[in-house]
Amino acid sequence: MTKYEAGPRTQAVLGMQFGDEGKGTVVATYAREADVVVRFNGGGNAGHTLYTAEGKKVVMNDAPSGMIFPHVTNVIANGCVLNLETLARNISGLETKLFISDAAHLVLPYHSEIDKAREQAREKGIGTTGKGIGPAYADKAHRIGIRAGLLKRPQRLEEVLAETLEFKNQELQSLGSERQFSMKEILEWLEPYRQRFAPSVIDTREYLQEAIRQRKKIVLEGANGALLDLDQGTYPYVTSSSTTIGGVLTGTGLNHRQIGRVIGVIKAYTSRVGEGPFPTESELYEDIKQFKKGERTITEEEEKIVREGTGWESGYDRFFSRWIRESAEEFGATTGRPRRIGWLDLVAVKKAVQINGCNYYALTRLDNLDGTFRVKVCTAYQHKETGEKTEIFPSDTEELANYEPVYEIIPGWKSTKGMRSFAELPGSAQWYVNLTSECLNIPPALLKNGPLQDDRIEMFKLW
Ligand code: IMO
Ligand code: MG
Repeated sequence: MTKYEAGPRTQAVLGMQFGDEGKGTVVATYAREADVVVRFNGGGNAGHTLYTAEGKKVVMNDAPSGMIFPHVTNVIANGCVLNLETLARNISGLETKLFISDAAHLVLPYHSEIDKAREQAREKGIGTTGKGIGPAYADKAHRIGIRAGLLKRPQRLEEVLAETLEFKNQELQSLGSERQFSMKEILEWLEPYRQRFAPSVIDTREYLQEAIRQRKKIVLEGANGALLDLDQGTYPYVTSSSTTIGGVLTGTGLNHRQIGRVIGVIKAYTSRVGEGPFPTESELYEDIKQFKKGERTITEEEEKIVREGTGWESGYDRFFSRWIRESAEEFGATTGRPRRIGWLDLVAVKKAVQINGCNYYALTRLDNLDGTFRVKVCTAYQHKETGEKTEIFPSDTEELANYEPVYEIIPGWKSTKGMRSFAELPGSAQWYVNLTSECLNIPPALLKNGPLQDDRIEMFKLW
């Protein structure tokens, strides 16, 4: 493989797990040299943490991660649902170039109200982010959504909104909520954002076609993760959009021949927020729900087990998860909820890589495994009753509970910090990466060993 292969200039960067894989930092790596960054799905449920060249931490929810680079044009494409208030907050103080698709749907104040009321009304909630994402996509499917194009036609916007609002107030009432919305309230909320963002609303599909004609370098930034995909994820514990390659196409209007490469982002361990199955989880979700950022949840002795392994058979996995949550600050960037933590699950990731047709993967947070005694990687599942082994992720979400992970165990390593080449990495960290490549049958393009832009080992130069 040549290092500077002259390849297609459109790269999709997609999450291979349950979200929070570190897509933001990977997009930032490529956006530095890109012309355009495009979000094609999701909305304010995303929380992409990234660092500016000066090392300042920024969290993007609705805005594409290219916003931290003044030279990048950012596009919120038609597959997104967009809360203009969050967008304004995300980009405040930044010098930005932004286009919004006229076919993107707006997330309005009643959506988050319905999201929360629906979660409460369910016997068992999904654990949504409460940002109104599901209700906004539901309106799109019900064909009562408000598209961004209406921001340019205020008269028509009012007419469409009047009809929608009637349905929405009925829905709130039927969910047992006392909250009702008036036209006046919505329009007053919307007007300042309408004035500000209406000039940015265009046909982004056509813009992207022109950008491709001009050989611009484009990064397509996925939100959420493959296992949260509405169709391919662990339904019903999923988000409401297509987070995978199909979502890239329908969410932008690009065609399949225009996607150059797909890079799957994989975190060196697994995390999940909200409800739903999680095969490599080693704690009871109920036990961690009350944890807060900055709080100590493991004792010195338990931390010593994670680092030195004395008596490691007892509770190691559980202590590892707690230690990671603290040291890697695994708390939701959007909701602040403690994330559930477990080992890297290559059975699940393999499904994600297959669905997306990834050419490469980017492994993030490798440095967060530094200093542990042992590292485990799940390479198969075993049926709890029959003992049968499989490398296939079951499509029936409830069936997942019948399997337990089969692990490969790798000795821990001291540190990967500051390293800039694969050859410098400790032997067992190389082993870890090689095992991942072998199992997934694709090579790594990027290894992240820290959150800053320069904390990376570039295995393959994309452009
Ligand atoms: P990024 O882009 C982590 C999860 C929620 C919940 C389920 C449905 O930061 O990786 P929703 O509000 O979308 O209806 O919630 O999906 N979820 C995410 N978890 N990171 C995300 O995005 C997520 N987007 C949705 O926690 O379990
Ligand atoms: Mg997140």
